Amino acid sequence: MSITRIPFERLPADIRRAVADKTGTVHRATTAPGGMNSGIASIVETDSGSVFVKGIPSDHPQVGAQRREAAIAPHLPASCPRLYWHLELDGWSLLGYELVDGRHADYTPGSQDLPLVEAALVDLQKVAAPADIDIKDAVDRWADYAPPGTLQHFDGEALLHTDYAPDNVLIVGDRARLVDWAWPTRGAAWIDPGTLALRLMNAGHPVEAAVAFADRFPSWRNARPEALAAFGAATASLWGEIAEENGTPWKLGMAEHAATLARALRPVP
Ligand SMILES: Nc1ncnc2c1ncn2[C@@H]1O[C@H](COP(=O)(O)OP(=O)(O)O)[C@@H](O)[C@H]1O
Ligand SMILES: [Mg+2]
Repeated sequence: MSITRIPFERLPADIRRAVADKTGTVHRATTAPGGMNSGIASIVETDSGSVFVKGIPSDHPQVGAQRREAAIAPHLPASCPRLYWHLELDGWSLLGYELVDGRHADYTPGSQDLPLVEAALVDLQKVAAPADIDIKDAVDRWADYAPPGTLQHFDGEALLHTDYAPDNVLIVGDRARLVDWAWPTRGAAWIDPGTLALRLMNAGHPVEAAVAFADRFPSWRNARPEALAAFGAATASLWGEIAEENGTPWKLGMAEHAATLARALRPVP
C-alpha cells in the first residue's frame, strides 16, 4: 500500500525536537527517492552528521512492518546500515539510520553492481533468523501460493530479506548495502537468491542468466529441484494475484517474468 511522502519539515514540531534531541540541531533535510511505504524518507543533516530518517504514522496499517524492521536491525550483518534510534511519538513511528550516501543498484545485464549485490547476499546467507523476535515465516507467507503438498520446502532457519527491488539495494563505492527490512522472514536460504533472480529478469536478464545467477549461491545450487519448482509456481501465483489486483505495467511485467521463471524451474518429466 503506498502512502504520500511528506518532507521532514512537515512533521509536528515536537517530533522534530525529539529528533534533534537524538542528533543535535537539524540543518537541512532532503527527501530520498525510491520506495513508497514510508511517509518520511529523508536525509537529515545535523550537528552530529547526516542521518537517514524513515517514518510512518502510528495508525498506518504498515506500522507493524516498520516495528519489525526496528526489531530485526540489531541482528543484521554489516552489509546493512546501522539503526541509531527508534522513536514512537505523537502519532509517528520514526527510525534513524546510518546514512548510506549511494545510489540504487543497477541490475541490468553486465552491470558492475551485480558482483557487489552478490557479495552482500553471500554475507546475509550466513545469518540465521533470530529466535527471540517476531518475524514472518516463509511457510506462512507462501501458504496461499505454493502448490498443494510443497509448503514444507519453504521451511528453514535463514534470515531472508525477500524484497530485492533495486531501490532497496544501495551502491556506495565497492559495496552494496541492503535497506528496507520491512519483511524479515525466517525460511529456506535459497528463497532470497530466487527472489533476486526474478528482479534480474525484470531488469532484462533472460531466465537462464537469472537462474545461473541464483546458482552461484550454494543454498540454491544444493536445493532440491522440487523445492525450486515449488518456488517458481508460488512466485508465479503470487505475482499473478498482484497483477490482477492492480495491473500497472511493471506488475504485469513481473507476473510475466514469474510465469517464465516457473516454467524454467519446472522439473523435466
Ligand atoms: N540508510 C539509508 N541511507 C540513505 N538512503 C536510504 C537509506 N535507507 C533507505 N534509503 C532511501 O530511501 C528509500 C526508501 O527507503 P526504504 O527503507 O526502502 O522504505 P520504503 O520502500 O518502505 O519507502 C530507498 O529506496 C532509498 O533510496
Ligand atoms: Mg523500499
